[in-house]
Amino acid sequence: MRLILHIWRQRNASEKGRMVRYEVRDVNPDMSFLEMLDVLNEDLLGRGEEPVAFDHDCREGICGMCGFMIGGVAHGPLPGTTICQLHMRHFRDGQELYLEPWRARAFPVVRDLVVDRGAFDRLIATGGFISAATGCAPDGNAIPVSKESADRAMDAAACIGCGACVAMCPNASASLFMGAKISHLGLLPQGQPERAERVRSMAAQAAREGFGGCTNIGECEAVCPKEIKLEVIARMNRDFLKAALTRRQGTSDSGE
Ligand code: SF4
Ligand code: FES
Repeated sequence: MRLILHIWRQRNASEKGRMVRYEVRDVNPDMSFLEMLDVLNEDLLGRGEEPVAFDHDCREGICGMCGFMIGGVAHGPLPGTTICQLHMRHFRDGQELYLEPWRARAFPVVRDLVVDRGAFDRLIATGGFISAATGCAPDGNAIPVSKESADRAMDAAACIGCGACVAMCPNASASLFMGAKISHLGLLPQGQPERAERVRSMAAQAAREGFGGCTNIGECEAVCPKEIKLEVIARMNRDFLKAALTRRQGTSDSGE
């Protein structure tokens, strides 16, 4: 296969970026998208040019490091798939593709297709954890959890923090990401003691980071490689309303 790539090249956050055209030949349809970029980078290095910077780690769809826009779609055209798991057989010979980094004020460009997603780390640091003692491994079954709650918590815990939801949202909202963390912890008994404070802290931090609000557009759900559902945002909003009312009425946070 042969591809024409237009790739966003930008040295750092303070310099201006621009699209640069590359032609990649001899692409094997069984290569992943990142392997195809490896081929391009080997070629660029061989010619003494700067390789294209992109984030990656596991290349198995589990770490959340990879991600950029292909033709304006976060993680590219295949639903429920990270870029590292996207294979070239889903593209046509001779196809022209435009690759750009995530675009959001809270995710400044580091270089080329790499953005700084430290804002997500700071969101997690404000509420994406439990500080209740969870005991040792044998204690795992000592606290009963209903099958339905366990399944829904597990679905929410599938979020890998890739940032595609923010990149695709016209408001650059982090609501799907936050909703996933808040649902994952809020559905389990161990997450109850800090449930109200968690949603308050994460919402305040999201505003400080410059993420926008959710207006129920649904682009985040459409591109999420882990198929996190919009219902996590509804759960987060319910928790937030309850937490805000509890504080206003001066009553204690009960969790439910
Ligand atoms: S909710 Fe989905 S798109 Fe957003 S960070 Fe998590 S895995 Fe990525
Ligand atoms: S490199 Fe880990 S999810 Fe893509």
